[in-house]
Amino acid sequence: MAYPNLALTARPRRNRRSPAIRDMVRETELRPAHLVLPLFVHRGPDEPIDSMPGVNRWSPDGLLGEVGRAADRGVRAVVLFEAAPDELKTPTGDEAWNPDGLIPQTVRAVKAAHPNTVVMTDVALDPYNSDGHDGIVAADGTIVNDETVDVLCRQALAHAEAGADIVAPSDMMDGRVGAIRQTLDRHRHTGVGICAYTAKYASAFFGPFRGALDSTPRSGDKKTYQMDPANSREALRELELDVAEGADMVMVKPAGPYLDVVRRFAEASAVPVAAYQVSGEYLMVKAAAASGWLDEPSIVAETLCGIRRAGADVIFTYFAMQAAELLS
Ligand code: PBG
Repeated sequence: MAYPNLALTARPRRNRRSPAIRDMVRETELRPAHLVLPLFVHRGPDEPIDSMPGVNRWSPDGLLGEVGRAADRGVRAVVLFEAAPDELKTPTGDEAWNPDGLIPQTVRAVKAAHPNTVVMTDVALDPYNSDGHDGIVAADGTIVNDETVDVLCRQALAHAEAGADIVAPSDMMDGRVGAIRQTLDRHRHTGVGICAYTAKYASAFFGPFRGALDSTPRSGDKKTYQMDPANSREALRELELDVAEGADMVMVKPAGPYLDVVRRFAEASAVPVAAYQVSGEYLMVKAAAASGWLDEPSIVAETLCGIRRAGADVIFTYFAMQAAELLS
């Protein structure tokens, strides 16, 4: 065989020869503006979360500082979760719609200090429900749908009245997106958006998050409302419903193990697609990096790139600060 091999006309390596060529032809771009930083707030001092190394439970003041540091790095979207004390938890989770509750207070403070940051709130009952479920648990153990939706509407309204830009129902009750849309509109919050957790799977990857909120279900699991990990056609049904009901963004959660669903959404959805790199995905990277055998910054960049390549417009990730730093 003579060299060079003249029969070899297609040499894909030509487009990889230099950094400038690689940059020119790169298909997937990740910018800090694509990222949403999840933040935990509680009535107490700033403290580390055991199950999520590197993530804090913030005091309201501490949280404001973190929102400022995020904005400085170009991360201008946050989603807020409350770690509520046991005394505030009841079977109907009524603290969820307390207009003076910690989330509405925090939303007001963040919007006052950082008006250009997009403030999203989680709409679901699990932080406030003594059963640790996203909905109200009936005497026979059933998670009741329509009564729960009623409470979720009040919760979303309390968040909107406090100034939230986008409410994010993560509960997976049927019909909640439409009901929340109607409630917001009837109260003249037509500009408040809904980011629907459209395909949220009954996933073991939420474990560390439930540790952060102390919200592990007291009994049973979430399989009667969160989706079966085996299904993706069913996710398209949820997509159709949420978009018809008025969702402004649709989410797939978790992200990494469900990239095929992200791709199907990207192809089928006319509204932006979000993906949530959840607490278990975060912890796997942290734990593996701590072993010394994986390079954490490279792994973070590669997982986020993969989620974007699959078709996500927006990524919720606990690595938002770190990723923004890497990108600058
Ligand atoms: C609950 C909620 C969960 C997460 C976000 N909202 C947990 C659950 O459904 O049990 C998980 C986030 C994560 O694991 O990072 N409404």
